[in-house]
Amino acid sequence: MTLPKKDVMVACDFSGRREVMDFLDLFTEEKPFVKIGMELYYAEGPDIVRAVKARGHRIFLDLKLHDIPNTVRKAMAVLSALDVDMCNLHAAGTVAMMQDALKGLTRPDGTRPLLIAVTQLTSTSEERMRSDLLIERPMEEVVMHYASRAREAGLDGVVCSPLEAGRVHEVCGSSFLTVTPGVRFAEGEKGDQVRVTTPAKARELGSDFIVVGRPITQAADPVAAYRRCVKEFLG
Ligand code: C5P
Repeated sequence: MTLPKKDVMVACDFSGRREVMDFLDLFTEEKPFVKIGMELYYAEGPDIVRAVKARGHRIFLDLKLHDIPNTVRKAMAVLSALDVDMCNLHAAGTVAMMQDALKGLTRPDGTRPLLIAVTQLTSTSEERMRSDLLIERPMEEVVMHYASRAREAGLDGVVCSPLEAGRVHEVCGSSFLTVTPGVRFAEGEKGDQVRVTTPAKARELGSDFIVVGRPITQAADPVAAYRRCVKEFLG
């Protein structure tokens, strides 16, 4: 399947199958690209992926793998067989781990889901990176270095802040994908996100996929909120 180069992904951060299905039932006209994260996957297992896929949604399975290359390769083969469209790992697992992940993801017919890397989590501050991880370089340099290593390993892109999307494209090329959370409507609640941008601003900054959770899932009218995101982001 060919994926659109730019799209809105809805972070379905629900605790169980019923809540997700009730939420997706609201969408009678469109089939949003769905992000399934750890909470839902660990609660419901691979069946939740099959069930959402069977309803015709594209899926980004956000499990952020990080282990020895052999383990990640085998785990990725399992995720690939679930027919997800995108999955991810931590670039900190090294180029060898990322290369093995790609091998595991590649199906016998040569197709595979897109694979993107987490560089530094946005919850990690520069100070914590220095004190806890003993990484002395500035955050931007570290993020760009991890993005370059991901590209060198053959990955398709990174998860990053919309504010980093332009620089990632400069360093890694315009076709290297930037998948960006931290999106809020101009008048909306930030929640626990700190550095936020609107869908329109994310588009201007060069994001390829925006990941939007609560502004859609907690909206009084989630379908209207989704449509507004699409309109602002895709124009
Ligand atoms: O509700 P909200 O729009 O903040 O959801 C953002 C989604 O993106 C959540 O699923 C969150 O876990 C994820 N995410 C993030 N920041 C990252 C990586 C993932 O907010 N750096």
